[in-house]
Amino acid sequence: MADDAIRTEVTERLTRAGENGVLRVITCGSVDDGKSTLIGRLLFDSKLLFEDQIKILERDSRKHGTAGEEIDFALLLDGLEAEREQGITIDVAYRFFNTEKRKFIVADTPGHEQYTRNMATGASTADLAIILVDARKGVLTQTKRHTYIANMMGIRHAVVAVNKMDLVDHSRARFHEIVSEYLTIAEDLGFASITPIPISARYGDNIFARSDSMKWHDGPTLMEHLERVDTNVDKEAAYAFRFPVQWVNRPNLDFRGFSGTVASGEVSRGDDVVVSHSGKSAQISRVVTADGDRDSAKAGDAVTLVLDREIDIARGDMLADPQQRPEVSDQFAAEILWMTDKEMLPGRSYLLKAGGQIVPASVTTLKHKLNVNSFEKEPGKSLKLNEIGVCTLSTSRPIAFDPYTDQRETGSFILIDRFTNQTVGAGMVEFSLRRASNIHTHAMDVNKDRRAGMKGQKPAVLWFTGLSGAGKSTIANLVERKLAEAGRHTYSLDGDNVRHGLNKDLGFTDADRVENIRRIGEVAKLFVDAGLIVTCSFISPFRSERQMVREQVEAGEFVEIFVDAPLEVCIERDPKGLYKKAQAGEIKNFTGFDSPYEAPETAEIHLKTDDLSAEDAAERVIEELIARGFIG
Ligand code: ADX
Repeated sequence: MADDAIRTEVTERLTRAGENGVLRVITCGSVDDGKSTLIGRLLFDSKLLFEDQIKILERDSRKHGTAGEEIDFALLLDGLEAEREQGITIDVAYRFFNTEKRKFIVADTPGHEQYTRNMATGASTADLAIILVDARKGVLTQTKRHTYIANMMGIRHAVVAVNKMDLVDHSRARFHEIVSEYLTIAEDLGFASITPIPISARYGDNIFARSDSMKWHDGPTLMEHLERVDTNVDKEAAYAFRFPVQWVNRPNLDFRGFSGTVASGEVSRGDDVVVSHSGKSAQISRVVTADGDRDSAKAGDAVTLVLDREIDIARGDMLADPQQRPEVSDQFAAEILWMTDKEMLPGRSYLLKAGGQIVPASVTTLKHKLNVNSFEKEPGKSLKLNEIGVCTLSTSRPIAFDPYTDQRETGSFILIDRFTNQTVGAGMVEFSLRRASNIHTHAMDVNKDRRAGMKGQKPAVLWFTGLSGAGKSTIANLVERKLAEAGRHTYSLDGDNVRHGLNKDLGFTDADRVENIRRIGEVAKLFVDAGLIVTCSFISPFRSERQMVREQVEAGEFVEIFVDAPLEVCIERDPKGLYKKAQAGEIKNFTGFDSPYEAPETAEIHLKTDDLSAEDAAERVIEELIARGFIG
């Protein structure tokens, strides 16, 4: 058959969904568990491979394969893998095949430990997880981690595929041993079904065809199970109407619609909907698509909704079923999977993206971490790569969401690093914390402007950052004296004095430094509100926290001053003798030695103190403050 003809036939087969609809599957396994072989086998046995691909496969198997004369299915996937590596952005490859009964979409995720991120991405839409276990190795930490993540991401059905049974003499005893170990850890997780199947992906045993070598297996073959497993029950409670507004579509004065993709449920013309944040309601008057108007739209449809009246709706709002409203809160408990090398630190500001909403957010407390071997709770101060924790989060504005167990689409979020734009965590909302909702900001009669006005000044945060010994406190002290001489009202916050009082419970781990600056930021903000010019001298080694303080005050009120001296110069000055101690190994986590310093890239003032006297440096700051209108 010509290539095109094959393609048409394949496309046709793929578009027939089969009587049992579509099943989305994720395969999870460690590097050599046989994941590629299994997926290759599924594609091969469902006869979906192009003939020319099969020929190449036969040839390559003879050349490079590890399966003797047999076809090495892993080679097929490895070929595809190379393609995938070129398209760097695609971390998860989706493979499609079907049988008479059902259509399958398989998320194929790289198995290396560092790729839990991809597994989580694939899991977030899957109905069923195939957890591959190598019969020789048994249940590994990675098996448990994948099982936990699959469950946490809302997958209701697990298949424990014990692979490479041919290498353990098709031993029934070995199979049962693995299954019972697996069940002791997974049984309590809350899967709707856990189905163990002994297989040999390489020889096709118990995949499509029943194995002659394992007649003792009285359960289904993998394919029988995949064709039959009933996922409708899981979807039935599905789901209240949710529509995150991606943008307000207003091409001219006569048309105002709200565009986005229906996240869950459905909506029809004439239905009442409510706006999540304001609680205002309206009726749907039109459901518009690129192909014209429709009567209704359901989950997954990209549409523009028109309402029967003018109400305030902005990007990030959510339209919802008035009978089943989403929660709106700026504090909630969530389970988080950390997906990057740079650890998660409570107090640090990340961007939280949920539906169409993007807001700054931070973890207020890490309640506990999860031990992936025992699934027990463990105390912890931060989350490292691949670790899972239960946290409370706070967002800078309220967001609309649902508990993840109610609605997957609107109950999940990702966390993004504010500087690299990388996705660093995936989270599932457990419930909202109501304590925040009853605290309202009291509007004071005497406000910041009045307080500052009485002092005849513009309040500011002068933030001195740099290595220990660079000269921060010395220069800040001179600047404050000059400000006082000019009749300004000031206050000064300094590492050494704050750490004797407010922050005496904090040390110098990354987590403690983040918390140190977070608290100081709050205090500095209060002083600014009091109308003062406040000097802050802290190493403040991390860009994220300096940025966080900057964002807490009004634009222009935060002046970052990089007090820059090379490490060698600071070591030589060593005003407190601390570098000597650090060099002798008596102090741990010392900035510049075994703790990093992230130099500012866009500080308002950059002072190189190795060739500038403290007096001159202070003078430079004063000049800049005059230029910025803080001193007349
Ligand atoms: S920060 O990193 O959290 O911003 P901060 O400025 O409050 O640090 O405190 C730094 C001061 O603490 C230093 O000037 C030094 O006197 C003292 N110190 C004690 N141990 C350390 C350490 N391991 N690293 C840095 N500074 C330390």
